Amino acid sequence: MTERTPALVSRLPQVGTTIFSVMSALAAQCGAVNLGQGFPDFDCDSALLDAVGQAMRAGHNQYAPMAGVPALRQAVATKIEATHARPYCTEAEITITAGATQAILTAILAIVHPGDEVIVLDPCYDSYVPNIALAGGVAVRVPLTPGTFRPDFDKISAAITPRTRAIIINSPHNPSATTWSEGDMRQLQDLLAHTDILLISDEVYEHMVFDGATHQSAARFDGLAARAFIVSSFGKTFHVTGWKVGTVAAPAPLMAEFRKVHQFNVFSVNTPMQHGLAHYLQDPAPYLQLSAFYQAKRDLFRQGLEGSRLRLLPATGTYFQCVDISAVSDLSEADFCQWLTREVGVAAIPLSAFYGDGFDQRVVRFCFAKQDDTLRAAIERLRKL
Ligand SMILES: Cc1ncc(COP(=O)(O)O)c(C=O)c1O
Repeated sequence: MTERTPALVSRLPQVGTTIFSVMSALAAQCGAVNLGQGFPDFDCDSALLDAVGQAMRAGHNQYAPMAGVPALRQAVATKIEATHARPYCTEAEITITAGATQAILTAILAIVHPGDEVIVLDPCYDSYVPNIALAGGVAVRVPLTPGTFRPDFDKISAAITPRTRAIIINSPHNPSATTWSEGDMRQLQDLLAHTDILLISDEVYEHMVFDGATHQSAARFDGLAARAFIVSSFGKTFHVTGWKVGTVAAPAPLMAEFRKVHQFNVFSVNTPMQHGLAHYLQDPAPYLQLSAFYQAKRDLFRQGLEGSRLRLLPATGTYFQCVDISAVSDLSEADFCQWLTREVGVAAIPLSAFYGDGFDQRVVRFCFAKQDDTLRAAIERLRKL
């Protein structure tokens, strides 16, 4: 009998524990106000809990259909048509996933062959690049313009090769809290026209767009929608990040391939949550009011930090606020975040964690999806800097 565990060649040799887990653990250890990891510290609407409880008691506790509970797919299609005037077929073009993370991985596994290139825009959400690696693809990192985080279409264009299979975009954008304009989306549409490049549009913060602006979903643009997997997450929209329920909308031929992978990955997503969400979505008010809800928190946080030595960057969407730390400290972003958590008692995330090369522009990210009292406690500490 051998007790030796066989040696393994890692599929993801570069990957360690994420910065979010590291900072959350440090915040807990130091008793710091955790504005690091992006999740609310308040509960969801009790009506949503009631709807899920009701679904469980009504016996919706066995496997859901592979593509998702029909009522939820219908509610999602109705919502997209109401907000972006694009009809998606409930049967063939909407799938319910175990959060946006699974949706993105599944889309990548469905479309990327070994050696294919996928363009990602740095700084980007941390799952994209490992996902591309798992599919045997090559991530081609193109930086957003430092300082403004605007897409640089000349750079994106220069990164396109005959091997480019897809591009991943994310607006509203984590971590920079910027949003793409209609003009940005049109430029992307023009760039991709006459190519076979697919689009993965990560729109998990779709309902957090501020100052009266409209979310420019890929669904609004014919030339983008025709090639796009549009990904969203109920975790973000309804304050239930722990439920891990997301959605994908895509044209039928793309969705058919997506579902082949989905079927043998999760197969289906938990049933009572889907029924509860389908019921809750009948009322559009909760998602239509979300931008105003988070705009008030953004404004509370920004006003609290006005006059401090942290320079506030524009925040036009998401529940994040980035600040420039150069007037406060000479430390690197990562060291500053450690120091801030330990010595000042507020956790933040360094932007360098979202770059392939660790680019340090002296900017850190705070999450303001917190109770007003939590935000006030953080403001009080940060104003002393
Ligand atoms: C840009 C972005 N995409 C995807 C996700 C993952 O969403 P989910 O929790 O639904 O998997 C997140 C979560 O933080 C995110 O910020």
